[in-house]
Amino acid sequence: GKDYRIATIPGDGIGVDVTVEACKVLDRAAALHGFGLKWTEFDWSCERFTETGAMMPEDGVAQLSAFDGIFLGAVGFPGVADHVSLWGLLIPLRRAFAQYVNLRPVRLLPGTTSALAGRSADELEMVIVRENSEGEYSELGGRHNKGQPGEFVLQESVFTRVGVERIIRYAFELARTRVGRVCSATKSNGLIHSMPYWDEIFAEISAEYPDVHSEQCHVDALAARMVQQPERLDVVVASNLFGDILSDLAAAVTGGLGMAPSGNINPPGEYPSMFEAVHGSAPDIAGQGIANPVAQVLAGAMMLEHLGETACAQAVRDAVEQVLAEGSVATPDLGGKSTTAELGDAVAAALG
Ligand code: NAD
Ligand code: IPM
Ligand code: MN
Repeated sequence: GKDYRIATIPGDGIGVDVTVEACKVLDRAAALHGFGLKWTEFDWSCERFTETGAMMPEDGVAQLSAFDGIFLGAVGFPGVADHVSLWGLLIPLRRAFAQYVNLRPVRLLPGTTSALAGRSADELEMVIVRENSEGEYSELGGRHNKGQPGEFVLQESVFTRVGVERIIRYAFELARTRVGRVCSATKSNGLIHSMPYWDEIFAEISAEYPDVHSEQCHVDALAARMVQQPERLDVVVASNLFGDILSDLAAAVTGGLGMAPSGNINPPGEYPSMFEAVHGSAPDIAGQGIANPVAQVLAGAMMLEHLGETACAQAVRDAVEQVLAEGSVATPDLGGKSTTAELGDAVAAALG
């Protein structure tokens, strides 16, 4: 069968633990479906930063550009300032490869300890479409009058027409393949330049999709609704920062951070896309072997889907659900006592 070339960057903290388990599951799934995953591992991390002064080599982007996919653990660890580590690796990769969509599907999985665990799975099935290349994540700004009473900082946001149009259009196209609902999250009552601009473009594009139900929400109210009436949501499109916050919230209401996958997608396919969990390196549990690997495994399923291996991706999701529903192998975040490796092994075994 075919071999896909995948770059893997385990990164820091539990990123390393969950990536090992996910690769094990994906290798087995691929073998059962008659293709191969050829992994090349990169040690880019805070540890590397401490040794060399850089998160990745200068030609890091070039080194990754020929791969079919990038599989990332998590980046960031105490000892290196978060803005240094993340702007030294994760954020530049998203931008260099024009991964302007951060796709974060959310489903209520069996065996969860979520606040909404009693709901039925079809009540809670949504996807956050997060703008992933501009917005509030900007290097523009600076610190002024340092050390003086009038000291202040400016942090600018950048919303380009191209950037806003393409993410909103992506959300509408995606909605057409689902139940046909899009909710756009903004904060136009407080932020008077960027958000009204986003709303204006959202209204323009929604007119091109009369078949899709569209609504515009204030992000604060949406946060409450996501907990209290999640059944009214399907595709949620948001700016970089709002999408970031909403995706941890959505993860928390469906099963916790240990269950939520994410894809940094370059829709034209001119560059590799990058798959990772929504969660970070979890320094509080790093090195203990107790992180939940499900989010990373499901990120792997998103990567298989992206590569066109749809049946294999579904087999991985089914194996995860089977193990979670059965419930005897569960990490502490799921109320169990199993290790990361035991849960990874159980999912691999459930593939058949
Ligand atoms: P975090 O997601 O790492 O952890 C938040 C909480 O969730 C912690 O209590 C943690 O133990 C728990 N948790 C997360 N993943 C889990 C899992 N798989 N199983 C069980 N419990 C899990 O968020 P944070 O603490 O804000 O960030 C830690 C570091 O990770 C920071 O350096 C941050 O910048 C970085 N980070 C990186 C990424 C990324 O690489 N994509 C994403 C988010 C945060
Ligand atoms: C995520 C993370 C990153 C983000 C951080 C670590 C920069 O929280 O992928 O959700 O905000 O994009
Ligand atoms: Mn985040």
